[in-house]
Amino acid sequence: MKRIALLTSGGDSPGMNAAIRSIVKTCLHQGITPIGIKDGYRGMMENQFVELNYSHVDHIIHLGGTILGSARCEAFREIQGRKQAIELLKDANIDGLIVIGGDGTYAGAAQLGLEMQMPIVGIPGTIDNDIYGTDFTIGFDTALNTVVEAVDRIRDTATSHHRVFFVEVMGRDAGYIALHAALATGSEMVLIPEEITDIDQLVNDIKSHNKGRRSTIIIVAEGDDAGNSMEIMKQVKPHLMEFDLRHSVLGHIQRGGSPTAKDRILATRMGHFAVQLLKNGKTQLAIGVDGEHLITCSILSAVKEHASPNVKDLELIASLRTQ
Ligand code: F6P
Repeated sequence: MKRIALLTSGGDSPGMNAAIRSIVKTCLHQGITPIGIKDGYRGMMENQFVELNYSHVDHIIHLGGTILGSARCEAFREIQGRKQAIELLKDANIDGLIVIGGDGTYAGAAQLGLEMQMPIVGIPGTIDNDIYGTDFTIGFDTALNTVVEAVDRIRDTATSHHRVFFVEVMGRDAGYIALHAALATGSEMVLIPEEITDIDQLVNDIKSHNKGRRSTIIIVAEGDDAGNSMEIMKQVKPHLMEFDLRHSVLGHIQRGGSPTAKDRILATRMGHFAVQLLKNGKTQLAIGVDGEHLITCSILSAVKEHASPNVKDLELIASLRTQ
């Protein structure tokens, strides 16, 4: 293993830079040349390969985003696009590849692995936490803390004005951010894609909770089956005319910012482990964390299997709601 390429792909997540730093430094310490691929799979198809050294990765552990850049690349889903990438990887004498990203990134890596003899290791980097085979993905903790801070602020103004607030959070098709944010902020209700939303029930819950109280907060996962926060608010409004309703979409602020200590540590450990795995001849593996221990499963199973949050927490949230 003389030359290891690495890329970040899909939605960026805080902690990706910490992972890049760890991979690059581990490679350099072990006499391996780290090659950064700019802008994910798009850069792989466009020959955007850069040899990395200490100066690229010194003092980036605290930075959000990704110094390599990222992209969502439709062309890589096509066989033609991947063929082009494979030729360029061969020309650059790449012996192994580390991909950092979410399920789309893993799907690309799995496909690439089927089409060429390239050892590949995946590191889970997404704020959504929706990757099978790991308790946590890099970036989830930071995004969650950003949401918690925002919801605490919304609580202040909601309570001042006797308001019912629908706060929409990211997560694509998964409810991890929403569920964990509701638990961490003491929000009264949470709507997630993993559980069918009953609008009549929601109306009743809001009525019975908000009576005599100064605020009610409902966290809405962007992928909820009943629609986004605006659509859900429109559905309940005719039945809640006596209440002052507002909605707030937190959006991309959830993706930026300096990573938490937890994300930096996770990224640092995973980056180092990815290089070790490739050095030891392992391939087509996705790294995960189980408690304090790093684990692996095949990238293919990480793509095929589904990760779901613990829906039992919905009962906990409901049981703590004052009626
Ligand atoms: O996967 C990360 C994520 O932030 C999702 O939570 C969200 O649905 C999506 O990316 C947004 O993607 P984009 O930045 O391409 O609009």
